[in-house]
Amino acid sequence: MAPKRVYLETFGCQMNELDSELVAGQLASLGYSFTTDSDQADIVLYNTCSVRERAEQKVWSRLGALKAEKAGRPGLVVGVLGCMAERDGTDLMKRMPVVDLMCGPAELDKLPALLDNAVRTRASFLADGPASADLRSARVSALQGSASRRSSTLAAAGDDLEMLDLARAVSPTDDDAKRSAYVRITRGCNKFCTYCVVPHTRGAEIHRPPEHIIDECKKLADAGVIEITLLGQTVNHYRFEHGAAVVVDGVTQPQKGRTYKGSHHRDAFAGANTTTFADLLRRIHDEVPAIQRLRFVTSYPRDFGDDVLEVIRDHPRLCRYLHVPAQSGSDRILKMMNRGYTIAEYDEFVARARSILDKPEIGRPLMLSGDVIVGFPTETEEDHQATKDMLVRSRCKNQFIFKYSPRPGTVAYDRIPDDIPDAVKRRRNNELLALQSEISDSISREQIGRRFEVLVEGVSRAEMKKRGADVKPGSGMVGITVGGRDPAAAATLELPDTDETVQLSGRTDTDLIVFFEVPSAKAKRMLGSIVEVEITSADRLALTGRTA
Ligand code: 5AD
Ligand code: SF4
Repeated sequence: MAPKRVYLETFGCQMNELDSELVAGQLASLGYSFTTDSDQADIVLYNTCSVRERAEQKVWSRLGALKAEKAGRPGLVVGVLGCMAERDGTDLMKRMPVVDLMCGPAELDKLPALLDNAVRTRASFLADGPASADLRSARVSALQGSASRRSSTLAAAGDDLEMLDLARAVSPTDDDAKRSAYVRITRGCNKFCTYCVVPHTRGAEIHRPPEHIIDECKKLADAGVIEITLLGQTVNHYRFEHGAAVVVDGVTQPQKGRTYKGSHHRDAFAGANTTTFADLLRRIHDEVPAIQRLRFVTSYPRDFGDDVLEVIRDHPRLCRYLHVPAQSGSDRILKMMNRGYTIAEYDEFVARARSILDKPEIGRPLMLSGDVIVGFPTETEEDHQATKDMLVRSRCKNQFIFKYSPRPGTVAYDRIPDDIPDAVKRRRNNELLALQSEISDSISREQIGRRFEVLVEGVSRAEMKKRGADVKPGSGMVGITVGGRDPAAAATLELPDTDETVQLSGRTDTDLIVFFEVPSAKAKRMLGSIVEVEITSADRLALTGRTA
């Protein structure tokens, strides 16, 4: 069969970006090639997100547009991957005949077989005409089904999904190599917050063996990566018991997460012969010295031990940046969300993190960020005020604020009517945005005069526009690809070898965005490296400075 060109588009979170990267690597090793132009593709894959309805709507409209496209190109194979495939199940296929295959996020190891199957079916359809196959019934899917939480069978069978991470294709060092990468440490989630679809789509929480994680970090470092972001829904719950490790076909298997009751400050997850999250951070820091920056998302506000904070304090290449979503400032709402902590406990965590980590006097302030859901069912003005108070007290550098979106399959969807009118959600959303904007602005201004080490990510968007380059929506910078971002989002710009200045964009270890100008001839060499920048001005979104 002729080599097939794949167009892969990613929606949603960082976990999806990583999944897409792994899927792309796996398909490339099997001879598929990639295109950033869906019109040129033989196969269109959407890696989807279900966390909010709006993310799903985008995919519905993409699929709608493909319908006409496919009428003219009957050989086109269309696949829906990720959380939407898992959540909508075969309903999605019924509603959208354009879809040939579906693959849930916990089944991505099966994608090559599914794709091969779908491509062959399409090919025989083209060769023999419509009579050859009932294409509708030939459609294929791999979904775990929310009833079977995959890891229940882990001890018995090898976890093939682990093989997908283990087989990660990493390209050797070259000028365009990625300097920043994601590494998964846990999959799935056991928290069952009542609004959240993730435990239903990504399955039970499992923890990857530390050796696999460290080997992956080493492999990435050898390929030129200098910044790694560890990924998990609740990274601070990471724990691997070596005594209980199961080996199948020579491969150490991931382990199921446990549920802990009560709140722990220290060593909540320790035990003899156990690798805790703090141990894991220390090991990566010490065993992979080429990684200049190690960060992690997302942390859960409960069970965050001092041990983790102390490891960050004592290891310079661990970033002083924590993404710790509170979700609401009201105890009553937190309880309905099943978050398992009170706002006093959240405040206590923030105070503890600051007392251990915040060292602005040595140019290393701690930065926090969070998520908030506004308009959760029954939310009163009083609850809303409590969230505003929380925003002021926690003083995060930024907050991702989301209007509550009822998700079929979740407890809240089934049991708690979505009773806050959209106009009220919108007003509260705007109030929180305005308040956070003031807070972000004042935090930014405090950075003026400080010096930061900045990882240079690329030419700024403004500079790109000035030079008439094609800037796609959502692509903040160019020059190097950061993280597992969609290759389609990155454009390239030729920098002349002259003295004219170019504005570059980068980030501090505390995740603040920094712009600074340098001569064009120097700019190229700086991409992907860490340079010292002194901050000269600031607004709520970004800092501006000059190289020190
Ligand atoms: N509605 C709105 N926001 C949600 N999130 C998760 N589920 C929902 C939902 N049903 C938000 C939470 C989470 C972030 C990734 O998305 O704030 O932390
Ligand atoms: Fe969803 Fe809660 Fe798990 Fe986060 S911790 S993924 S919000 S269930």
